[in-house]
Order: sequence, then C-alpha cells, then structure tokens
Amino acid sequence: MPADAKKLVKKATQLMKPVEKFDCETRKKTTTGGDTITFDYMWATHLSDEDFEWVFDLFKLNMLEMYQKSQWGFDENSKRNELRATTSRFIIALNEEGEKIGYTTYRFVVDHNIPVTYCWELQILPSYQNKGIGGMMLDTLERLSAKTNMEKVMTTVFLYNAPSLGFFHKHGYVSDITCPSDDSGLDYAILSKETP
Ligand SMILES: CC(C)(COP(=O)(O)OP(=O)(O)OC[C@H]1O[C@@H](n2cnc3c(N)ncnc32)[C@H](O)[C@@H]1OP(=O)(O)O)[C@@H](O)C(=O)NCCC(=O)NCCS
Repeated sequence: MPADAKKLVKKATQLMKPVEKFDCETRKKTTTGGDTITFDYMWATHLSDEDFEWVFDLFKLNMLEMYQKSQWGFDENSKRNELRATTSRFIIALNEEGEKIGYTTYRFVVDHNIPVTYCWELQILPSYQNKGIGGMMLDTLERLSAKTNMEKVMTTVFLYNAPSLGFFHKHGYVSDITCPSDDSGLDYAILSKETP
C-alpha cells in the first residue's frame, strides 16, 4: 500500500470536524419544496444512544427488505457495529423544525491502494425523498474529498435498488474499476466519482 494513501487517510480520519474545518458544507440547502435544511456533523462514537437508534431504525425502514433478499443477508449485530465503527463519520440532515430527516455515514479508507471517501450509507426519510437532500449530502462529501485529497467518492448499491442507482448515476457516479463484472453473479455494484 503506498505510504501516501495510508498517511492521507489517517490524517483525514483524525480530523475532529473536517467539514467545518474546510468549509465544505454544500451551498445547496433548499429543498425542491422550499424548506431550508441544516446539517449536524459527528463521529459515530459521539452519537447518543437515542440518535443511534434513530439511525438504525431509518436504516431498517429503508433497507431491511433489500438486505434480507441480498446475498449478504441481514445480520443486525454486524450492521450495528459497522455503523458505530470508530472511523464512521455522520452527517445528519434536519428540517426547519430541527427534526432529523436523513443521514449519510462515510469513512476515509484506502481502497485498492487509493485514498477514498466511502459513502457507507445514505438514508432519507421516505417523506423527504426526491427533494434534493441526498444530493446536498453527496455534494458535501465530494467537496470534502477534494479538501482531504481523497481521489474519489465511492459507494456500494444493490443492483435491484433502481432508484438509488438512478440517483447516483444522475450525480455523475459510474461503475468503479473494482465493480464486479456483469457475469460475476453478485447482486451489487460499486460506483464512484473522481474528485475534481
Ligand atoms: C436514494 C436516496 C438516498 C436519494 O436521496 P434523495 O434525497 O431522495 O435524492 P435527491 O432528491 O437528492 O435526488 C433524486 C434525484 O435522483 C433522480 N432519480 C431518482 N430515482 C431515479 C431513477 N430510478 N432513475 C433516474 N433518476 C432517478 C431524481 O430524478 C432526482 O433528480 P433531480 O434532483 O435532478 O430531480 C433516497 O431516496 C433514499 O434514502 N432512498 C432509500 C434508501 C436507499 O436506497 N439509500 C441508498 C442506499 S445505496
């Protein structure tokens, strides 16, 4: 593994407040319905138990069925540990009433020797989907990637999650070089977008 990739990821992971430090919060904050969205930033290890249960409940609401039918299956304990990992960082979106309406969790990682921002989860409450909020959070991740010298933003999507595939394609994400081939028999795709 190139020393530089490891060093860059270590440095980015140690930042307490990277989005604030580099002023890379998205400039787009108004939904298509005219609501102004605000964002909270935190390490997974600093989420309260109550906030974590909200995160996990929204994950289950949006994804449980998809995981149950996937080749990975659904293992609640391992998913909980994954979301609360020490390297997980959260962006939580709030509506004008201050209610939590969605989140993304990401990590800085070395993937196939390349420093990347991995968008681990992106979950929006069903009643707030398709209003531009997911796009706002991707925009922040892309700006953050540029400031921390990560080479791309990556994500993994089930092949049968058409709305999510459509969403990422719309935002310029394409099949990553590490994406399983069409004849692999695997049920997910790895998408990425290079940091400008
Ligand atoms: C996928 C998800 C994160 C997207 O966030 P969102 O806030 O709903 O998305 P946005 O409103 O920012 O953007 C939606 C865009 O994707 C486009 N889109 C949605 N479904 C699409 C499809 N099937 N084909 C093409 N484009 C599609 C919309 O046209 C829209 O584009 P526009 O803003 O130019 O009109 C959100 O809908 C969600 O939480 N879904 C359920 C959980 C999930 O699947 N998460 C992703 C796991 S990988």
